[in-house]
Amino acid sequence: MSLNVYDIIVKKRDGGVLSADEIVFLIDGYVSGRIPDYQVAAFLMAVYFQGLNSEETADLTMAMARSGKVLDFNDLGFVLDKHSTGGVGDTTTLIVLPLVAAAGGRIAKMSGRGLGHTGGTIDKLEAIPGFSTSLSVEAMEAQVKEIGLAIVGQTENLVPADKLLYALRDVTGTIESIPLIASSIMSKKIAGGAQGIVLDVKVGRGAFMKNIEEARKLAETMVALGDLVGRKVTAVLSDMDVPLSKAQGNTLEVIEAVNVLTLAETRSRRLQELSEVLAAEMIRLDSSLQPSLDFSKAYERFASMVERQGGDLAKLKLDAPFKKQVTAKADGFFADADALAVGQIVRDLGAGRKVKGDPINPNVGVLFSKDLGERVAKGEVLATVYAQSQEDLDRAVASLEEVLVVGPKPYDRPVVLDVIRGGDE
Ligand code: URA
Ligand code: CA
Repeated sequence: MSLNVYDIIVKKRDGGVLSADEIVFLIDGYVSGRIPDYQVAAFLMAVYFQGLNSEETADLTMAMARSGKVLDFNDLGFVLDKHSTGGVGDTTTLIVLPLVAAAGGRIAKMSGRGLGHTGGTIDKLEAIPGFSTSLSVEAMEAQVKEIGLAIVGQTENLVPADKLLYALRDVTGTIESIPLIASSIMSKKIAGGAQGIVLDVKVGRGAFMKNIEEARKLAETMVALGDLVGRKVTAVLSDMDVPLSKAQGNTLEVIEAVNVLTLAETRSRRLQELSEVLAAEMIRLDSSLQPSLDFSKAYERFASMVERQGGDLAKLKLDAPFKKQVTAKADGFFADADALAVGQIVRDLGAGRKVKGDPINPNVGVLFSKDLGERVAKGEVLATVYAQSQEDLDRAVASLEEVLVVGPKPYDRPVVLDVIRGGDE
């Protein structure tokens, strides 16, 4: 029996269950241009309303992963990866990967650039003078063999199906579908060659998932998906109601990652706490690793990675012509800071992009002097804003005065909300 798109759309519209062949037929047909946008748009809307069961989600994920090149690091053994659904002040990758490498892990990570109010790891690393994120797959593999980690931008044609589907979902009201989000994220991790994956699913005002129920559903879907496709997956649900760290802006965030790795007195404790949990969960996925976190060894790994990828940490410093402090207007606690609002302020300073391809400025941002929840006295500095112009500075300071809340009760939402593990655990 030959397959046709119309029947597949109608079957899903009426709540039927699709076979792997039908899903592969649809994805391959779309990527090769045989199936038009309007039919795939109708299919996506049918999925939005009817959902996909776990086998269908796994079949879609693998069909998407195989739509382009699939990396294979068999020479390296069990390769680990981590993924964050996107947050503000989220510099965990730069801390977690060195910690896992120091424990003997092997991590080959492909990262993206930032868009909107969230930052991307590649943009952060490029704040280090000289750092190159365009390594070939061979060079990446060689580096991982030697020092345990490499972080590169996407150069290969990985998961073309996701690029097409995401663009179509974006204009057809079908982004907010758990099986579509899960297959989008997991297909990219699988094509990137990972066998063990830790997912940081952010929850809150600054996150893609605004409430914990939806985030948990997405996390459970991806963990179950891992079991079905033979990958070890753990999901950590973490708070994104407030920025994760004290530092927002690319140079500031790399410096903050170094502060955590070197256990500097001023380091962000919430950033450290989440990084430790993510690293421990990655280490747990590979029983051959040392089950401990060694920060000084991790810092050495980080420095080796920077050096091997051409960067010069000695030249990493913030160079912004305009700066101003925001001070507390009363005694109390650092009680709140809306992560979305802070992310938008930092983006508008020039640290992020409104649309794909916008240039960014690594040397602007906002640095909190306190962690969320800490005690502050009237007149004490709460944050410093770094800008490229007086106008940008004034606008950011005025907005931050509204967004940074000092009150009688400390901010007390924990940074790690839950951990969801796969397999029999
Ligand atoms: N992030 C992704 O990579 N894909 C989605 O569909 C949603 C968020
Ligand atoms: Ca379980």
